[in-house]
Amino acid sequence: MANKKGRVFSGARPTGRQHLGNYLGAIRNYVALQAEYDCVYCIVDLHALTTLEDFHLLRGNTAEMALDWLAAGIRPEESILFVQSHVPQVTELHTILSMFTPLGKLTDLPTFKEKARMHPHNINYGLVGYPVLMAADIALYKADIVPVGIDQESHLEFTREIVRSFNFKTGKQVLVEPQMKTTNYPKVIGTDGAQKMSKSLNNQIELALTEAETAARVMTMVTDPQRTHRTIPGRPEICNVFTLHRSFTPEADVERIAADCRSAKLGCVDDKKSLAASINRELAEFREKRAELAKNPDYVWDVLADGAKRARVLADQTMDEVRAALGLP
Ligand code: TRP
Repeated sequence: MANKKGRVFSGARPTGRQHLGNYLGAIRNYVALQAEYDCVYCIVDLHALTTLEDFHLLRGNTAEMALDWLAAGIRPEESILFVQSHVPQVTELHTILSMFTPLGKLTDLPTFKEKARMHPHNINYGLVGYPVLMAADIALYKADIVPVGIDQESHLEFTREIVRSFNFKTGKQVLVEPQMKTTNYPKVIGTDGAQKMSKSLNNQIELALTEAETAARVMTMVTDPQRTHRTIPGRPEICNVFTLHRSFTPEADVERIAADCRSAKLGCVDDKKSLAASINRELAEFREKRAELAKNPDYVWDVLADGAKRARVLADQTMDEVRAALGLP
């Protein structure tokens, strides 16, 4: 790794093929950060186990997600891209950090309460410890910067506290207190026009769709509910199709689209066709590269194995220091 401004670490659960929400909210940012930082990007399969029931999906979801990241511009020669469970040192650090974690703090976290509400029949020990494992991820690689969405704020604050507590109680400045870098991209809404784009809600538009599939998916998007007829003017400011234009359509055209929607010169069907064309233009290079990389099914696993090898070097260094700081014999 070249010596840049510091180290970035981020992780995401293996959710399979990535969608526009992942792209705008995270992936684009991961790609851009590579210019200034040493980046470590991790597919957190162990975290996925806390809520997963379909274990057999893990392998395929991991490969699909890694392919999307690589095709979008994660450069594996420069950055480390790896799978969490391939570097088991993280589970050792998780156990150690758990001794520095007040239990009440974990059960008080809003993210835990929310997950417990969503999975009332599977409130497992790992789910409570989720933030400790995340802190172990970040601390193991001594990350300076962690780019995450605002929903992860309480986890990041928790990580900072646990790192401070470890350093204070051992009297050694072994672990690094990370800074959070929020992706200040507004929440990407799904095709339902109401909820955050996500695979579990089936309101997503996947990056790897073909042009025709993308157009078909865009056609299902919910627009301004007030616009029940072609001749009724629309309100771009509340229409999710228009919001996506802002991300994918050239600025000059965006203003014209807003005006034509307000005057009812432009109907929703044509508006969606032009959005689909914009998305397809933006993703053309991505799709070409993805198809190329997917030709060799071993490629993605080779990249992940190499990433794990390089990650293990960093992990071993940190664990030697952690064990010494604790006086483990
Ligand atoms: N908790 C994160 C999420 O749900 C995923 C994650 C796990 C993570 N470990 C991390 C993010 C370390 C940043 C750094 O999205």
